[in-house]
Amino acid sequence: MEKIQAIRGTKDILPENIYQWHFLFDKFNEISNRFNYTEIRTPIFEKTEVFHRSIGEATDIVNKEMYTFTDKGGESVTLRPEATAALVRSIIQNSLNHESPILRLWYFGPFFRYERPQKGRLRQFHQYGAELIGSPNPEADIEIILLAIELIKSIGINGYTLLINSLGNEQSRANYRIALIDYLKNNSENLSTESRTRLEVNPLRVLDSKDENDLKVLENAPAIIDSLDSESRTHFDMVLKGLEEIGINFEISNKLVRGLDYYSHTVFEFRSNYLGSQDSFGGGGRYDGLFEQLGGKATPAVGFAFGIERLLLILEQIGGLPINNQHIDYYFILQKSDYYNYAQNIANKLRQLGKSVVVEILRRSFKAQMREANKIAARFAAIVGESEFLESTITLKNLNDSAQQTMSVEAFLNSLK
Ligand code: HAM
Repeated sequence: MEKIQAIRGTKDILPENIYQWHFLFDKFNEISNRFNYTEIRTPIFEKTEVFHRSIGEATDIVNKEMYTFTDKGGESVTLRPEATAALVRSIIQNSLNHESPILRLWYFGPFFRYERPQKGRLRQFHQYGAELIGSPNPEADIEIILLAIELIKSIGINGYTLLINSLGNEQSRANYRIALIDYLKNNSENLSTESRTRLEVNPLRVLDSKDENDLKVLENAPAIIDSLDSESRTHFDMVLKGLEEIGINFEISNKLVRGLDYYSHTVFEFRSNYLGSQDSFGGGGRYDGLFEQLGGKATPAVGFAFGIERLLLILEQIGGLPINNQHIDYYFILQKSDYYNYAQNIANKLRQLGKSVVVEILRRSFKAQMREANKIAARFAAIVGESEFLESTITLKNLNDSAQQTMSVEAFLNSLK
């Protein structure tokens, strides 16, 4: 029979790498707790409408990248391409923000986008993200960026760039749209075909183009910052001042617009030189209009997400991957397979005392079992031969220094209590 391959753009997280994922999860859990954020888990699929109404019909994600299908009941469902919209759906549905005006949430899990797979770009990838719900103030933007930075620091990543921009409130964005369309239309003969299409459907996204000719045109394009009204400008200035005074380095990038339509005011992105063309390992921003778009009460909010695979790529590049410190305490070596139950009984008492223990199940020769115990770097070989079996004893061989001793099982277990 032919072998079956995994779906393109998906990756098995193999046993030899899983501890890296536990490391990231545990660190992020710990740091999130310090900021009083609580984990939330929502389903990995949602009604398609959740994403259509939030991310925006004219974005690449909704247009080209969603895994959408009709289920057997005739409902259009979508594998989540991101979490923010789904979280807002859940907060509204479960009235999570009725008890307290502020909600601090984080999540970790798989996401799905039908993109062209390449280094750092997958069709199933993973994100850690955090959302701060309920405050319209720059204090919230500062808190969420600080959280992001502490998370990156906690896993040992130091060299990166934080880009920041403001899209302003709705009125400022509308003003900017007009100014930008005007400018781009006047220069449309020099734009790439893709940007000319974007100009019609989602003009702000032209700013994201990496095409050389587009970049030339964009050099003189109007900057969003010049279209900000005084409310938007003040908000942005206070965010920047806060970051400065807390000692967070950033670069203002007036071309940063992000690929999702729900943003307003602050947007930001983390970039790394270790990633090649997919250099953004995290991003986020404020989304004050999203709750209403999804049928809730107007609620200001701000958040971000990191791509876990991209963080792991950076760690690999800087030699910062954690070391696997999982170990085996005892490997039970059986002179005859008849001693299996005797051994497994002791082994399980050891496990109950917190030890990690493996008992031979392949009926290998004594020598082969010894080789196995060494190969998996067990601390002790626990040997069961005829005399041990008959006398309720166990022989322990320290595989580091080969020191060996035989003792009663009872004394052995008691010595560990
Ligand atoms: P995003 O920028 O679309 O934002 O994704 C966040 C991060 O997920 C990216 O910076 C990248 O590291 C990772 N990522 C995205 N697509 C892929 C892919 N195909 N393969 C590997 N990694 C990928 C959001 O998703 C927003 N929900 C962030 C947010 C939260 N904004 C406010 N709150």
